[in-house]
Amino acid sequence: MKKLHGKPIIAGNWKMHKTNSEALELVQEIRNAAGELKETELVVIPPFPALSEVKKILQNSPVEVGAQNMYWEEEGAYTGEVSPPMLKDAGCTYVVIGHSERREYFGETNQTVNKKIKAALDHSLTPIVCIGETKKEREEEKTNQKIKTQLSEGFTNMTQEEIQQVIIAYEPIWAIGTGLTATPDQAQEVHHFIREQSKEAYGKEIGDYAIILYGGSVKPKNAYPLVKEPDINGALIGGASLKCESFIQIAKESIKAYKDKK
Ligand code: 13P
Repeated sequence: MKKLHGKPIIAGNWKMHKTNSEALELVQEIRNAAGELKETELVVIPPFPALSEVKKILQNSPVEVGAQNMYWEEEGAYTGEVSPPMLKDAGCTYVVIGHSERREYFGETNQTVNKKIKAALDHSLTPIVCIGETKKEREEEKTNQKIKTQLSEGFTNMTQEEIQQVIIAYEPIWAIGTGLTATPDQAQEVHHFIREQSKEAYGKEIGDYAIILYGGSVKPKNAYPLVKEPDINGALIGGASLKCESFIQIAKESIKAYKDKK
């Protein structure tokens, strides 16, 4: 797995959008634009049926492919599930784990998240682990408590070597798909808290180098101030990743933000 420091990660989670033909059209455009974006790590995260075809288009390009979910077993009678070796074979290097939509609609818990993280690492897939609070939890000032539990339970029994390979995505649930974005200050506060938790649990060096992405209504116009915050290392983008122009614009803004970082 690659070490990713010094450049922002810009990952587009397409969720349940794009048929194969639509996916190929979009990824071809992204590939064409990606040449001038070497100062960022671009990742596209299409639905399962499009993974292999998307990867074919991206051969010999710097754009990486990720999956939106996976099961933790290698194979077996698990109807409807997809395994880590299948994702590797399709060309994935990343996998999103524990997205709030998976937790809310498909019953994922911190315990299943933990199993999936371990399985991803066992197969050299970089997990992008999503955490974040609901609107109610924020209003009741329970954000830090929620984050702390998601981290301690989700990352239970992991070695320092393993933890260094994990990317965290802070996605406040109230900001996902709502057009409401956390302000740079609000996002920075939680990112800082996550980094401090990581330092406390695994030591200063691991905490300092932890990669923490922000997700939740990231758009070209708000990407710069968010990514410029000291503890924000990139973005996990939903809606705005479905069009090449906005996805690439976010990448460009993030590169600028990284150069101007406080
Ligand atoms: P939106 O950018 O559409 O708010 O989605 C964020 C998200 O959930 C990315 O995983």
